[in-house]
Amino acid sequence: MSIDKHSDWYKDAVFYELHVKAFYDSTNDGIGDFNGLTEKLDYLKDLGVDCIWLLPFYPSPQKDDGYDIADYYNVNPPYGSVKDFQRFIKAAHKRGLRVIADLVLNHTSDQHSWFQEALLSKKSKKRDYYVWSKTDQRYKDARIIFVDTETSNWSWSQNTQEYYWHRFFSHQPDLNFENPRVQKAMQRVMYFWLDLGLDGFRCDAVPYLFEEEGTNCENLPKTHQFLKDLRKKLDNRYPDKVLLAEANQWPEDVRPYFGDGDEFHMAFHFPLMPRLFMSLIKESSKPITEIMSQTPDIPENCQWGLFLRNHDELTLEMVTDEERDYMYKEYAKEPRMRCNVGIRRRLAPLLDNDRDSIELLNSMLFTLPGSPVIYYGDEIGMGDNIYLGDRNGVRTPMQWSIDRNGGFSRCDYSLLYQPVIADPVYGYQSVNVEAQNRTPSSLLNWMKKMIKTRKKYKAFGRGTLEFQKTNNSKILCYFRKYQEEIILIINNLSKTVQAVEVKLDDYRGFRLIELTAENDLPLVEDKPYFFTLPPRGYYWFKLVPVTEEAYETLQEMQTEAEHETEKVTN
Ligand code: NOJ
Repeated sequence: MSIDKHSDWYKDAVFYELHVKAFYDSTNDGIGDFNGLTEKLDYLKDLGVDCIWLLPFYPSPQKDDGYDIADYYNVNPPYGSVKDFQRFIKAAHKRGLRVIADLVLNHTSDQHSWFQEALLSKKSKKRDYYVWSKTDQRYKDARIIFVDTETSNWSWSQNTQEYYWHRFFSHQPDLNFENPRVQKAMQRVMYFWLDLGLDGFRCDAVPYLFEEEGTNCENLPKTHQFLKDLRKKLDNRYPDKVLLAEANQWPEDVRPYFGDGDEFHMAFHFPLMPRLFMSLIKESSKPITEIMSQTPDIPENCQWGLFLRNHDELTLEMVTDEERDYMYKEYAKEPRMRCNVGIRRRLAPLLDNDRDSIELLNSMLFTLPGSPVIYYGDEIGMGDNIYLGDRNGVRTPMQWSIDRNGGFSRCDYSLLYQPVIADPVYGYQSVNVEAQNRTPSSLLNWMKKMIKTRKKYKAFGRGTLEFQKTNNSKILCYFRKYQEEIILIINNLSKTVQAVEVKLDDYRGFRLIELTAENDLPLVEDKPYFFTLPPRGYYWFKLVPVTEEAYETLQEMQTEAEHETEKVTN
């Protein structure tokens, strides 16, 4: 097996986010490494994912879990070597798995040699790699992102008696993208890893690359110009790679990151994520239908990245004040569950370990428009440790088995980079891959089944989205359509059994087939279709024409869709 070469592979792909340090430790020093990850590739293949997203693995003082990079051209020694990385990429490709990694453009660590040199004197050659000022009063309209730790976006340099600019931690000085040498340097970093076989990048913190007085210093035209140029350079040399934007913004501000299909291939849909959680609490489809109706169309060759949880807090920046209070009240009952503007918890504990709710959120993750990104460990329902600092509570070692340290490492417990989860509910003794592999009804086996099902239908990655009005607001019902595929998804957001009537007038003579078991339901007739759904239940159906009339309808629909596409492309 090897990578099949088609340039828009990311539209059908399922992504899996992981940290090398947290996955598997082959040297028993308490820290995961590339060789360990290579050993676990068959697990990921079996899960059914298509592309691995690696969190930053470069040398770093690790004050921001590797997002503070000290050397862009190496592997953090505890994780292995560049050779190990290459071996890993080769082994992944051999299994048909692609790999992307974080590209941290906006800032470096203060330990990076550029910054160290810049600190020496105002005349240093690298001085202009960063943003300096005599006062801390410039760019006043830029918000502070890490509100728990930072009070200003400026920090004082004692040596050179000037302030330097940083949008994140004060140990992460922002690079000066006005400097063409900085732009070139970052392009070179991109080439370096692509030449070693990487399939693309999750580009960190892209809204903040440039600054401009009188603005909030986010999403500036110059930023888009630089990114478009980066994309052009990528396309010129590397045809089937992908760039995925981390732009935590409202949909209308994210839209420009796709450009005319000439900037990012993908961007995360940040505002949708908290609203999926909100819809469960409110038992209402409204938070989801509202945000999706505010989501602009994106170019044909682009794709949303959907996620439920990741390595950061569940960010609540893209919600209203009222919604934020509501989310805190429901999902962060203890103050230490909060972090910056968000909630630092994993999927399973957020949902009180309720299997039905976990499946329901994943059902929406897998069926709404975009490519799903699964956070490592969430496929087995791993827990978190809110007593660890920063966002480290959701970054604990992967739980493989009941062996020592959850089968992650044979090291002495005290050597682990962070303790493995060991509480009675989420501890490795009860939540681990080995046990779930052996249990047919486990969450892991359910995830495999749903991923496999999703992959049979292109409509999930490429189809249109049409919400279907029903007589019950607790039900979220939608069609995904692509060419001859018509998929109908019904989700019960409520904690109780719900009945719903779905008008399927346009589909008279079609049969409903449930997608996971491929079993038939009765023909659609003149009256609405009636469903009852269990608490937090969900159904995935395809509609298949059976009667002659239904075949004609299908043909008409296809001709209409073709006209629509022509209109868009002309
Ligand atoms: C976004 C990353 O997801 C987060 O983990 C990091 O702290 C900030 N960027 C700063 O690099």
